[in-house]
Amino acid sequence: MAEKLIVKNLVKEYEGEQVLKSLSFVVKEGEFLSVLGPSGCGKTTLLRILIGLESQTGGKILLDGKDISKLPASQRGMGIIFQNYALFPNMTVLENVEYALKIRPETKTDATQRAKRTLDMIGMSDQLKKRPHHLSGGQQQRVAIARTLALNPSIVLLDEPISALDVENKEIMKRELKDIQKKFHSTMIYITHDQEEAFFLSDRIMVMSTGTIEQLATPLEIYNNPANEYIQSFVVSHLNQKYESLSKCIGRL
Ligand SMILES: Nc1ncnc2c1ncn2[C@@H]1O[C@H](COP(=O)(O)OP(=O)(O)O)[C@@H](O)[C@H]1O
Ligand SMILES: [Mg+2]
Repeated sequence: MAEKLIVKNLVKEYEGEQVLKSLSFVVKEGEFLSVLGPSGCGKTTLLRILIGLESQTGGKILLDGKDISKLPASQRGMGIIFQNYALFPNMTVLENVEYALKIRPETKTDATQRAKRTLDMIGMSDQLKKRPHHLSGGQQQRVAIARTLALNPSIVLLDEPISALDVENKEIMKRELKDIQKKFHSTMIYITHDQEEAFFLSDRIMVMSTGTIEQLATPLEIYNNPANEYIQSFVVSHLNQKYESLSKCIGRL
């Protein structure tokens, strides 16, 4: 797999304090990479720097071999999905997805077709005329995902997108995210503090403690060969405590 994103010695300081301490890692083309770590370890800061909403204190970001470290967010072509999907309430499902396509010259002419195709792939083609308040939370989030994917982003960044859902909807959305990733073959960076989510969804997991990468490997490698005590307690023991058999929680092994 080609190297899609290369991050080199990325540092972020807030008021003299390093919240990201020289992170270096590579994300491969088409990969689903989770960034797993406890609250406050720097996940959202990393994501905001990658997409260009925040500037780094030091280090480089290369996208498809090109240095994008200083490019504005609008020129990085990345898509982002948050917990609060914020659809336009006065627009239909189709209009919500069409909107961003219609305001860009390169997608203006076939905006409707593209929006319909993406909504179809995401299983929402029978809901095109509905307004968001007539949809379930999960459906609304699918529309938000379609809206992002329709723009054909270079990378999709997801910041704890399902953490606000109840247990049942979380399970459903987890499966759907996996299906969506298979269908669209997008490179995805998925931020979570939830060990099971990371294990269920990811090709590889980057486990962080405060501002630092502790291990970056496949779920199986992490489980079988935890790099240190931190990984052993934050990831392995946690999963062992929760499950008698790991096979119940890991779909891909
Ligand atoms: N704008 C900011 N100014 C000062 N400190 C910040 C700012 N944004 C985040 N931080 C600090 O950076 C650290 C990492 O935060 P964040 O990236 O939101 O963590 P996570 O997403 O992993 O919960 C925290 O200690 C937080 O208080
Ligand atoms: Mg966060």
